[in-house]
Amino acid sequence: MYTIHFDVDEEIAKYLKGIKYPHWLNEKNKSYQNVEAISISHLCKFGKSTFQYFPKLKLIITRSVGVDHIDLEECKRHSIAVYHILDYGAISIAEHALALLLSGTRRLFDANKKIKKGEFNFRNLLGYSLYNKTIGIIGTGRIGLEFIKLIKPFNCQIIAYDIYKNEKAAKDLDFSYVSLDELLQKSDIISLHIPLNNDTHHIIDNNKIQKMKNGVILINTSRGGLIHTKALIDHINKFYFIGLDVLEDEQSFNKNHPLLNYDNVLITPHIAFYTDETVKLIGKETMHSIERFTKNDKTGRVV
Ligand SMILES: NC(=O)c1ccc[n+]([C@@H]2O[C@H](COP(=O)([O-])OP(=O)(O)OC[C@H]3O[C@@H](n4cnc5c(N)ncnc54)[C@H](O)[C@@H]3O)[C@@H](O)[C@H]2O)c1
Repeated sequence: MYTIHFDVDEEIAKYLKGIKYPHWLNEKNKSYQNVEAISISHLCKFGKSTFQYFPKLKLIITRSVGVDHIDLEECKRHSIAVYHILDYGAISIAEHALALLLSGTRRLFDANKKIKKGEFNFRNLLGYSLYNKTIGIIGTGRIGLEFIKLIKPFNCQIIAYDIYKNEKAAKDLDFSYVSLDELLQKSDIISLHIPLNNDTHHIIDNNKIQKMKNGVILINTSRGGLIHTKALIDHINKFYFIGLDVLEDEQSFNKNHPLLNYDNVLITPHIAFYTDETVKLIGKETMHSIERFTKNDKTGRVV
């Protein structure tokens, strides 16, 4: 199949065959006319207006688990198949959620700033212990459960909310399901592990933030659209720490982003998925998805 891979960096490029571009859509490029398959990253928005550039397109592979950047209904209408990466190691995203959490609770970035100023002392660097704290996990799918496994040895109480209750996992990993309201009210730390869709868009809004404890920690490695950014800013002093790997407006991010004004916010540029192990798997799975499509194998097919 005539394939183009978009938004490819040198790490993933090693595992992809076909034409590779470091950028997303160049609207003046006429060579897309005969393209049958494309692979894209989570940063390539494939909306209604994108279809016109790929008149022969049969297959989109997104090199991500999330598919919210693709207009799936329009893909159905145009008979374009969409495949995603089923699982490239939920543990890697869970590891990053833990990294964000510990960076905040043990003030690693503030400590590093102090050190760079030549100051070797503990003034204004009081840490926050995880033991005895209540951790609320929103979403107990693959990543949520891996995060629970990582956090368990810290001896905290774990509560969770999900529309689907995995009672076996709750028993095995010793956590309990509660309502979303109860989770918001009881948690010292909240970590989001649900997909972005119409039901979950701005699930963390003004009303939900008001229900949280003062001094709460919020971690989001899922999708930026789960949090209403303005509401977060309106209540910024309520949070001990906010660790975000994802933002509502990642594509238009720049140094004037309002969240950069606050010392209790640590942002990473959507890198939770990006490790030595995962790029290998993502690259191989992308090429497998092309094979699966040609053999009518539905593994990993969303549309
Ligand atoms: N930052 C990154 O690099 C990165 C990488 C991979 C995935 N992600 C994000 O993480 C999300 C979770 O991934 P996963 O593999 O654990 O997905 P998953 O499908 O295994 O789990 C999602 C869980 O969310 C629950 N859920 C769905 N809608 C809900 C709702 N309205 N309320 C409560 N619970 C709900 C589901 O029942 C499921 O248990 C993905 O959708 C993706 O957006 C981010």
